[in-house]
Amino acid sequence: MKKFTNKNLIELINNGFTKLTLLKQEEVSQLISECEELHEKYENNENNQIGLTYPSKGHAKKKSLIIMVSPEKNDTLPSTDEIGSLFKDYIRYNNDILSRVTGISVPQDSRYMINYRKYLGETEQVFEHFDGEYLKGFIDEANYHFFEEALLPRYVALLTLHGGGEREGAIITNVASGEEINPVCNVGDMLIFDNIRFKHHVPKLIKPRTLLGVRNFDFLPFHYILEPNDGYVSLGDKINYGYIKPIGSGEAKDLMVMKIKSINKNE
Ligand SMILES: [Fe+2]
Repeated sequence: MKKFTNKNLIELINNGFTKLTLLKQEEVSQLISECEELHEKYENNENNQIGLTYPSKGHAKKKSLIIMVSPEKNDTLPSTDEIGSLFKDYIRYNNDILSRVTGISVPQDSRYMINYRKYLGETEQVFEHFDGEYLKGFIDEANYHFFEEALLPRYVALLTLHGGGEREGAIITNVASGEEINPVCNVGDMLIFDNIRFKHHVPKLIKPRTLLGVRNFDFLPFHYILEPNDGYVSLGDKINYGYIKPIGSGEAKDLMVMKIKSINKNE
């Protein structure tokens, strides 16, 4: 795995995104087989109720797994640490980036929501959105993501495992300026971007493509609410027009515990 340099770190902080060729072909192959193994194990989604996996809109041309993972077992919140060795290294790699940005060490039981996505052919577009744990919200018929309350991770990292190339991946849009950036990602490339300064969408894909996305909303995330409140500032987006504030990991954990309790109650 290629080192995340200080230059990458400065780019991420200043520009809100950076890209690097992270994996060699043999590492890509290993990571794909580790993801496939995980997919097979959790494909049946019976864990949706307890918040370990999340339903994902699958269709004939897309296979997808959304699951919470952490390098070490989390005793409070749903997560699995039973992931492949390279996968675990990659999660720790992301922990290291978060630690370097914030100056605070990320606990090894901190979870990442990962989505492993295989687009098998031409697929519908994913509308612009911010990634996060939508505590209250919905994705409507037209595939718009709208939330009333959410935990927003600081960063989202996308790794291209198969396919790639021009306009064949996520496009990020600067929320303040509206400028669209379309980083060309090839196999083995990692793109990491600021999930507050940028929203993202995926255009209609023509060619098959496999992506692995990871984001952490346990560790020092942003709390999003619809109404203005003390200490909150506008997210600046037209669709999700609410307000955000950075919160502590303990507060984020309490919100997650509350959400999981409410899911269980509704069963
Ligand atoms: Fe996304």
